[in-house]
Amino acid sequence: MTDNMAIERSRTVAVVGTGTMGQGIAQVALVAGHPVRLHDTAPDRAREAAEAIVGRLDRLVEKGRMSPEERDAAAGRLSVAEALDDLADAALVIEAVVERLAVKQELFARLEKTVADDCLLATNTSSLSVTAIAGKLRLPGRFVGLHFFNPAPLLPLVEVVSGFATDDTAATRAYATVKEWGKTPVRCADTPGFLVNRIARPFYAEALRLYEEQAADPATIDAVLRDCGGFRMGPFELTDLIGQDVNEAVTRSVWDAFHQDPKFVPSLAQRRLVESGRLGRKTGQGWFAYTEGAERPAPRSEAPAPAPAKVTVHGDLGHAEPLVGLIEAAGIKVRRQKRGGHFTLPGGGHLLLADGEAVFEYEGEEIVYFDLAHDYTAATRIALATAPTTSPETLQEAVGLFQALGKEVTVIGDVPGMIVARTVAMLVDLAVDAADRGVASAEDIDTAMRLGVNYPAGPFEWAALLGYEKVSQLLGALHTRYPNGRYAPCLGVVRREYEERAR
Ligand SMILES: NC(=O)c1ccc[n+]([C@@H]2O[C@H](COP(=O)([O-])OP(=O)(O)OC[C@H]3O[C@@H](n4cnc5c(N)ncnc54)[C@H](O)[C@@H]3O)[C@@H](O)[C@H]2O)c1
Repeated sequence: MTDNMAIERSRTVAVVGTGTMGQGIAQVALVAGHPVRLHDTAPDRAREAAEAIVGRLDRLVEKGRMSPEERDAAAGRLSVAEALDDLADAALVIEAVVERLAVKQELFARLEKTVADDCLLATNTSSLSVTAIAGKLRLPGRFVGLHFFNPAPLLPLVEVVSGFATDDTAATRAYATVKEWGKTPVRCADTPGFLVNRIARPFYAEALRLYEEQAADPATIDAVLRDCGGFRMGPFELTDLIGQDVNEAVTRSVWDAFHQDPKFVPSLAQRRLVESGRLGRKTGQGWFAYTEGAERPAPRSEAPAPAPAKVTVHGDLGHAEPLVGLIEAAGIKVRRQKRGGHFTLPGGGHLLLADGEAVFEYEGEEIVYFDLAHDYTAATRIALATAPTTSPETLQEAVGLFQALGKEVTVIGDVPGMIVARTVAMLVDLAVDAADRGVASAEDIDTAMRLGVNYPAGPFEWAALLGYEKVSQLLGALHTRYPNGRYAPCLGVVRREYEERAR
């Protein structure tokens, strides 16, 4: 990709629709050096937007991130267009109007009569089909999706979406331009939810399902994904921030767009929450309360238990191998045996990394599952799963073992795949499926998930840590226990498992 295809800084960028996103995008283009023209149909909205943008530049000056001269020059490049016809000389028009297909189609039909034939046309839609918005255009080849994230001046990721009719040159120009603006663009095909909103669905969906299955309460599920999984925020606190209605609408639109594929099925628990008006922070109540003085419920943590004097490690623990060093450093004796892939506790109970099966299936055996961590050394919490048949002594030994490593320990219900392992397996599955369908490269998918939703690792990086054999085992076992297709590993996961074995 060559950067010299970027639109020259002397050329005008027009932003149509100057609400939250339009203002942010306009600021980015302005600071990058372009003359920027704002247009909005609501009276005075574009003028107010221009004032708001200059106000934000003033704050950058106060913080020492911009000189007063740069601010004055930028403000001088910013103008308001009362009519669409005033955008005739734009080299790029970015639309950020209401999320309604007919409104966007009508806008671009009018714009196409105004701007030059080589003007790049872009939509910031987050859920509509880029192909459909361009469907009625005379020149749909110059039409792209430029999906910025809110707040656009701060968040680096931009999804550059090619519709069915988008020319490669147009996508390349759009990519090079936003890269010149200091953003991190990723390229993707026109798919429901694009990259981030498509691949992130299981992060919310698995948490909701685990809650429905009474594996744990929301605060505990959040804590496990944060403190063990390494995710910045848990799905319940995050959807309270996004708005339960907004998050559910994205889930429903992706599910509908995929013709109600079970991989994307919405949650009844979230439906009820939305129906009850508990939309999250904005209404003062979602999964958690946000009224003055309200306290967040504490995640479930076990009371202190004595550390076992020794453990036996059977075979190679794979991604969980760093635990062995931590155990030795805690002064617990480690004996190694050749085959297996698990721990044995002094009382004879076995400790296994979540593999998609449930504890109750091990009739007569003493089993405790532990959840997947992004990094076992850095994790501050470990989740354990037991069945009612597991003896309290075995559970206490397992709790004491992880507590001796300085971890909080959370015991959850006996659900296959636990919390982090199940979520990560599904993220990998959707990412591999998207890559194999030509939606985007593996590298761009990882970048999008790290920057767009702050994941500690992209799905392909998780897969490299775990190995596809483990991912496939998790999904296969989950699919056996929930045989409606949601967990069926996609062909690409199985193919990569075979390729991995052949290496
Ligand atoms: N808010 C987000 O977090 C976010 C993130 C990414 C993408 N998006 C997408 O960006 C777009 C805008 O979202 P927003 O949150 O900034 O909305 P917003 O409601 O803050 O702003 C929309 C603006 O468009 C104007 N408008 C409506 N119809 C118009 C028309 N025909 N011509 C010109 N102006 C018109 C409105 O007056 C309003 O000022 C949507 O497509 C949305 O899906 C939003």
